[in-house]
Amino acid sequence: MHMKTYLTNKFLEIFGQSDNIRIFFTPGRVNLIGEHTDYNGGHVFPCALTIGTYAVVRFNNSNRIRFYSLNFSKEGIIETGIENMEYNDNHLWANYPKAMIWALESNGYKINKGFDVMYYGTIPNGSGLSSSASIEVVTGYMLKELFGFDYDNIKIALMARDAENKYIGVNCGIMDQFAVAMGKKGYAIFLDTNTLSYKYVPLRLGDYKIVIMNSNKKRGLNDSKYNERRSECEKALKYLQKVKDIKSLGELSVDEFERIKDVIKDDDNGEILIKRVRHAVYENVRTIKALEVLISENELSDVDRQISDVEETKGLKIFGQLMNESHRSLKKDYEVTGLELDTLVEVALKCEGVLGARMTGAGFGGCAISLVHKDYVDEFVIKVGEEYESKIGYKADFYVVETGDGACEI
Ligand code: GLA
Repeated sequence: MHMKTYLTNKFLEIFGQSDNIRIFFTPGRVNLIGEHTDYNGGHVFPCALTIGTYAVVRFNNSNRIRFYSLNFSKEGIIETGIENMEYNDNHLWANYPKAMIWALESNGYKINKGFDVMYYGTIPNGSGLSSSASIEVVTGYMLKELFGFDYDNIKIALMARDAENKYIGVNCGIMDQFAVAMGKKGYAIFLDTNTLSYKYVPLRLGDYKIVIMNSNKKRGLNDSKYNERRSECEKALKYLQKVKDIKSLGELSVDEFERIKDVIKDDDNGEILIKRVRHAVYENVRTIKALEVLISENELSDVDRQISDVEETKGLKIFGQLMNESHRSLKKDYEVTGLELDTLVEVALKCEGVLGARMTGAGFGGCAISLVHKDYVDEFVIKVGEEYESKIGYKADFYVVETGDGACEI
């Protein structure tokens, strides 16, 4: 059945009426490279996916908001007054859209009419493919259209980040919200998180595919570790600022870092702080390099491609190596991988037709990605799947990346 019909029927079933409904969508994202750089003022390189979150909505002529999720149907309808956006443990998942409404209101956008909204998410929860950014951004986009607010998609991303930081309590950067609000089919987004300047880069990978490997280890519980990494970076930055006028780690070149790193001399964990900064600085440089490589790959004309296969994969090989280095650094210096993600990457790299592999997103669980030749994808999925299950004890899931558009009405 067509998604729109399915959602309309479900809405009718839940709320008893489906006249005047409107349907909105926001994708999830996968990050190609540039991990844990966004809250350090560095670069990221994500793309939006075709899986995401649908929101079906209509005004209900009251001053109540009624939330329902097809993914959490057991929880039933969760209801609150339009004046009451405080965090409430009993509101479970609905605290995410409430967080967005709270952020809108903090920015002066008042919700003065009640509505019924039904969500349906196709992103596996806790997979690190940004299901939370997706539900927040779809809510922001939907309310803009419903109430005629004048903000743009970048502003939605910024408000969604505020919702995460100040309401949910995860001190994340801007990458996820930006990627899902601004994504474009066929493109990755190269984003400078310091200035928010960005570039759409065609994701032309020739005969290669990006395969997402979901470890099925949920990451939610480790959000405290995420916040810990961020504060380690902030602490290290303070030491560096004693000798260099910088606002973020993203401003440091590799040479500068190597020259001044020894000023980081924390009594408790100086060595650890240096490792964290090393990752942030080198990863940022790798991300800029990855952009150059993809751009030069895109510039190869189709004639070049026909003449020489070697030329075609040269750039992608470098891209793959950058992915591998990224993973090593996230494992050794940033320490956010863990047995599950390391296993996926190790096994992936042993497979034929693979140019690179790395964890993606926050880490600690969630997903890794690999750049795999299209002729070897099936074999890859079987081999990585089997080895992962025999070592870890449960299954991994695999998806071939299809890029999609950002927030929209459907
Ligand atoms: C999570 C956060 C992002 C980013 C990544 C790591 O996805 O939400 O802001 O920090 O982790 O790169």
